[in-house]
Amino acid sequence: ATTLGAAAQQSGRYFGTAVAAGRMGDSTYMGILNREFDMVTAENEMKMDATEPSQGRFTYGNADRIVNHARSRGMRVRGHALAWHSQQPGWMQNMSGSALRNAMLNHVTQVATYYRGKIYAWDVVNEAFADGSSGARRDSNLQRTGNDWIEAAFRAARAADPGAKLCYNDYNTDDWSHAKTQAVYRMVQDFKARGVPIDCVGLQSHFNAQSPVPSNYQTTLQNFANLGVDVQITELDIEGSGSAQASNYDRVTRACLAVSRCTGITVWGIRDSDSWRAYGTPLLFDNNGNKKPAYTSVLNALNAG
Ligand code: G3I
Repeated sequence: ATTLGAAAQQSGRYFGTAVAAGRMGDSTYMGILNREFDMVTAENEMKMDATEPSQGRFTYGNADRIVNHARSRGMRVRGHALAWHSQQPGWMQNMSGSALRNAMLNHVTQVATYYRGKIYAWDVVNEAFADGSSGARRDSNLQRTGNDWIEAAFRAARAADPGAKLCYNDYNTDDWSHAKTQAVYRMVQDFKARGVPIDCVGLQSHFNAQSPVPSNYQTTLQNFANLGVDVQITELDIEGSGSAQASNYDRVTRACLAVSRCTGITVWGIRDSDSWRAYGTPLLFDNNGNKKPAYTSVLNALNAG
């Protein structure tokens, strides 16, 4: 196959990208999007601040532009993200206790209901664990409403959009030996044991020199899958250039292909200049929209798999 999406489909997987509504007038950007990808994630437009700017008033204009474009072209959509400590609207940031818990659950219910039937997988909860060696939950206003806030969010999402896969999504959960990875693993294990509805784990997979692709990355994917959930690589980008970057992209792609429940890969933007860390040139297309060596290595790996 000659495109990322078609190459991924050969093994029943998808290949997606983050899309920013503000770039949808850029014909180079849209040309690559429409040619290469078969899954889309809104980079910012489905987050809590974008969809509920004032309490109880929901706005979906930019999110709908992305979702409608994707669906009209036969691309599927990952919903990102229903509940997160970051990018909360101002009105929510200083809330606490049962008022915050109810506001969060109402947000999950309203957004998941609005998009019911249109989303392949929701990032129901994003980035709820702390970095470092503690293995603890991240402190946040949501966490302070009680340790059960995550399972409450998953239950609300299942009730609102029963056909969608429900994912827990995080970063720095790629190295199997890290405390954060282990903590997420134990939470998913516990959810499966107690019947809390969870279908998938998203590994964001933002890599750079400080946080390289770990040697045990495939082990991590496999161990999560062994809990009875799908795994998805949800926000892939790898800083670097040339053959070193290409080889890292190859390793990540092969790791997913080697794990039957790794259902797809999403890169976090199209051209380097579209990236949240453009200085690191972390993506598959250069600023002019030309294919980089990393693109070719991913395409070849998908075709070989
Ligand atoms: O749209 C406004 C613009 O009007 C304003 O002039 C400008 C001034 O700062 O800000 C613009 O908003 C920015 C937005 O990106 C759109 O470009 C926000 O400030 C900025 O904070 C926001 O950054 C996003 C970041 O999440 C916020 O947490 C990045 O685009 C987005 O790539 C990034 O994505 C996250 C995932 O959601 C979760 N995992 C990590 C990943 C990378 O940080």
